[in-house]
Amino acid sequence: MAEYDENWMHLVKNYLEYQVNLGFTQVILPKTRAVSLVSKKAESGSIVLESIRKELGDCKRCPLHSARLSIVFGEGNPNAELMFVGEGPGADEDREGKPFVGRAGQLLTKMIRAMGFDRSEVYIANIVKCLPPENRNPKTLEISTCLPFLKSQVTAVKPRVVVALGRIATSSLLNTTESLSNLRGQFHDFDGILLMPTYHPSFLLRQERDRKYKAEAWEHLQKVMAYLKSTHSHLESKDE
Ligand code: URA
Repeated sequence: MAEYDENWMHLVKNYLEYQVNLGFTQVILPKTRAVSLVSKKAESGSIVLESIRKELGDCKRCPLHSARLSIVFGEGNPNAELMFVGEGPGADEDREGKPFVGRAGQLLTKMIRAMGFDRSEVYIANIVKCLPPENRNPKTLEISTCLPFLKSQVTAVKPRVVVALGRIATSSLLNTTESLSNLRGQFHDFDGILLMPTYHPSFLLRQERDRKYKAEAWEHLQKVMAYLKSTHSHLESKDE
């Protein structure tokens, strides 16, 4: 397959060089072909996500399964360039089976909109997929059991940036004990994808009187937007 791709690229390169030699400066592609390539890519992301969901099944791999109502797998664009990862479902998410639908979710949706995206354009998931009882932090075993599924989801979606919401998401994805204050606001490498740690929306809601945390989170998100805009992105095409 890799060899086939290389040959194919080589042929395209030769053809384009030939066109340049003839004096052409533009290549006009038929629109229908471009659209079908895009939808094929989106389709392949969703097929892989479906197979990960199948593999997860009615998961009972860790103790969290016993108190949950639903497995909150994640949702959004299977081909998103931007992905958000939270900690774990709360009671609202457990009831609805969808990530970030409660108060913290409403704030996250506003943050996503402020970045120029519709919520349906990004992909949202959590470190653990089942509600930790009494809203406690997920335990190490619960995280390590669930994390391979999230990592497969990231591989399927192939986002250009992952935004890690809060300490648990950041430390789990970066596999570090470093504090969030040392990591937030800077890009880090997560298996070849840029990861931006920022505050969890629940934390921002608890700190509502102190505007500085929201302002700081906004700075982090602006760095993400600047990166997406500096390389070919959705934000650019919206401006056109
Ligand atoms: N908090 C999270 O970390 N994730 C959710 O889905 C909801 C609240």
